Amino acid sequence: MSAPPVKRVSVPEFAGARGRGVKLVVVTAYDYTSAKLADEAGVDAILVGDSLGMVVQGHDTPLPVTLAQMQYHTACVVRGVKRALVVADLPFLTYQISPRQAVRSAGSMLKFAGAAAVKLEGGERMADAIAACVRADIPVMGHVGLTPQSVHRMGGFKVQRDADQLLKDARAVADAGAFALVVEGVPSDIAAAITAALSIPTIGIGAGPNCDGQVLVTHDLLGLFDGFRPKFVKRYADLGTATRTAISAYADEVRRGVFPAAEHEFR
Ligand code: KIV
Repeated sequence: MSAPPVKRVSVPEFAGARGRGVKLVVVTAYDYTSAKLADEAGVDAILVGDSLGMVVQGHDTPLPVTLAQMQYHTACVVRGVKRALVVADLPFLTYQISPRQAVRSAGSMLKFAGAAAVKLEGGERMADAIAACVRADIPVMGHVGLTPQSVHRMGGFKVQRDADQLLKDARAVADAGAFALVVEGVPSDIAAAITAALSIPTIGIGAGPNCDGQVLVTHDLLGLFDGFRPKFVKRYADLGTATRTAISAYADEVRRGVFPAAEHEFR
């Protein structure tokens, strides 16, 4: 007898987490293998973040990431996932020009890459774009606070502290129809106020413990990325050191003629 099919986390189920009193767990993934591992670990959603511009492509910011690259990585992730909700980030300049452009870009992530939802950055200024996507049946996760695509306007990846504006932004995103909101890089009390003001779940990153869920970049939580280590990151493993150690051991055995051994040979 075959195993029963795994029930997928749907957008309404994710959005209704607060009513069930459960915390939402979100991680990023950019490829089949890491998405499969995260899914098997039981996360609620996998975000194909444009942070891949930094941790996969080696850029200083996510700005160079293209829509085609996001579609490619999202399709790889979707193939590895059986249960989690897959949310694809819209990269810089693929939704800011007009609501029409936002619908086209967001729709392509569902139509060609297999995501169930998209995420886009920005508050009040992005409300029209979010509403247009929602009208086209494209579920949208918002993202306010430290929005990495605005790195040049913000003068760096800086904690955002304008409580009034952050609340206005969060309300505008929720009123436009977003099903959840990422709150990044804001003081914990402001994140708590945003969470209290909204009926959709908030997903914090560098926003303290009072959000409805948390998201981390997988490379950060696994200790794979040394480039930049924000205060809010907790490392749950040191796979950077483990990887270097394993590859050094392999190199050493190849150089000494120990690998491949008899059991690795075809006879
Ligand atoms: O791009 C990304 O990975 C993100 C998360 C850090 C929220 O936007």
